[in-house]
Amino acid sequence: MNRRWWQDAVFYQVYVRSFADADGDGIGDLAGVTSRVPYLAGLGVDALWLTPFYPSPQADHGYDVADYRDVDPVFGDLGDFDALLSAAHASGLAMIVDIVPNHTSSEHPWFQDALRSAAGSPERARYVFRPGRGRDGAEPPNSWRSVFGGSAWRQVPDGEWYLHLFDVGQPDLNWENPEVGDEFEDILRFWLDRGVDGFRIDVAHALVKQQGLPDYRRGEPVPHWDQPEVHDVYRRWRKVLDSYAGDRMAIAEAWVDAPEAMALYVRPDELQQAFNFHWLEAPWSAAAFRRVIVETLAAVDPVDSPPTWVLSNHDVDRHVSRYGGGARGLSRARAATLTMLALPGSAYVYAGEELGLPQVDVPEKARQDPGWLRGGRAGRDGCRVPIPWSGIAPPYGFGPDAGAPTWLPQPPEWAGLSVAAQDRDPESTLTFYRKALRARRDVVSSLGQRIELLDTAPGVLAFRREPGVVCVINCGSRRARVGQYGEPVIASGSADQVASGWLPGDTAAWFRDA
Ligand code: GLC
Repeated sequence: MNRRWWQDAVFYQVYVRSFADADGDGIGDLAGVTSRVPYLAGLGVDALWLTPFYPSPQADHGYDVADYRDVDPVFGDLGDFDALLSAAHASGLAMIVDIVPNHTSSEHPWFQDALRSAAGSPERARYVFRPGRGRDGAEPPNSWRSVFGGSAWRQVPDGEWYLHLFDVGQPDLNWENPEVGDEFEDILRFWLDRGVDGFRIDVAHALVKQQGLPDYRRGEPVPHWDQPEVHDVYRRWRKVLDSYAGDRMAIAEAWVDAPEAMALYVRPDELQQAFNFHWLEAPWSAAAFRRVIVETLAAVDPVDSPPTWVLSNHDVDRHVSRYGGGARGLSRARAATLTMLALPGSAYVYAGEELGLPQVDVPEKARQDPGWLRGGRAGRDGCRVPIPWSGIAPPYGFGPDAGAPTWLPQPPEWAGLSVAAQDRDPESTLTFYRKALRARRDVVSSLGQRIELLDTAPGVLAFRREPGVVCVINCGSRRARVGQYGEPVIASGSADQVASGWLPGDTAAWFRDA
């Protein structure tokens, strides 16, 4: 296979609402992102992924799209989008955008038409409308639950019910209707024509539901995830991507059970990448990391697709906190990141992880996540708190000082975590990410795609990439002997100890043959 730009690219996820606020309304925007392109280029990532910025009532912070071909005034306009794309490209950064094909917003003109039209009409056939069960159809059509809590069905005044696997403001589209596929092909072309390098596909495994919409059955696969027919959608999308010059690509967000199921999304005639959530889900354990690496590589090998790795995103607790929080959580997070950056394939970094931001316990009255509001899950606000750029008090340079309060409150103790506070500190997490990304470009990207796992003490994982680079992560609390692996290149913690031939606990390092 020829080398493609995305194969070993490091993507940086910009959660637009929380990145940088140019106009002072307390919400991040596209002009804010543009103003930070030099920072992103200096960080050393290769590409940006922008979360949804389309017109939206923001019931799920933009994952409820009312118009797929425009920009919400909160975030700017199409001119701002074009300016950001040009600035990214001029700095050597590729840019992909989020596409949300499983559901529209309930404010989308299609859904509004469906509400105005009768049961059985072509307008309703774009969504999943069904009669209810029980007396007078007063019960939902089946037992399906919304990811955000409660039934996945909402009744409309004429008695029919519509499916919403997420918020009530996110009605599911009917992908068995050819009109839906045609519309999305056109949307893809709209953004490809504007020059985007690809797409991140939201809940890519949900589009097709099991025939007959059966109730859940204990011990059986969930009937609305990962149906075999969903792959036909991506075969079509691949043809669209391939019809453009410049190696356009797409990555599936598909929370599937097994690495083998993930690999089906990256077969040669489907998508280029799928998120490897098994890596993110692994607990802090050398054995668990080892298992995920082995299983991932085994799963993608037969389809000849480079793997991907990710530790944090806008839907999960930040990895500093998942690994225990505090200084120990931060050491572990840096070590896991350095390990990820040594693996073959592509890596995804979430805005703020380069600052070592922890999960924030957002005060209940300030929380906005529909998952929290519908009572379904703990809420994802804590990983979406606006980025601290500078200064000693909120908004920490996120927006103008005289601007509106940030849409989620920033903790009073974040001054030391800001970009400005970390910029010149040789020990800071920001400096570590810059060094690690530079080392990845200098050392790792010329290495072979295969790894060899090395025998180690329990609690330690080591692998070699030919020619001659070894990555070691010590998940134990006692130091481990590493003198045999060569010259240290970079360490996630104290470099002095590594130079003396020992790797402290909760630390990773790369070595090069002496
Ligand atoms: C994806 C997004 C998440 C969103 C959901 C519904 O999982 O990452 O943020 O809530 O899809 O669109």
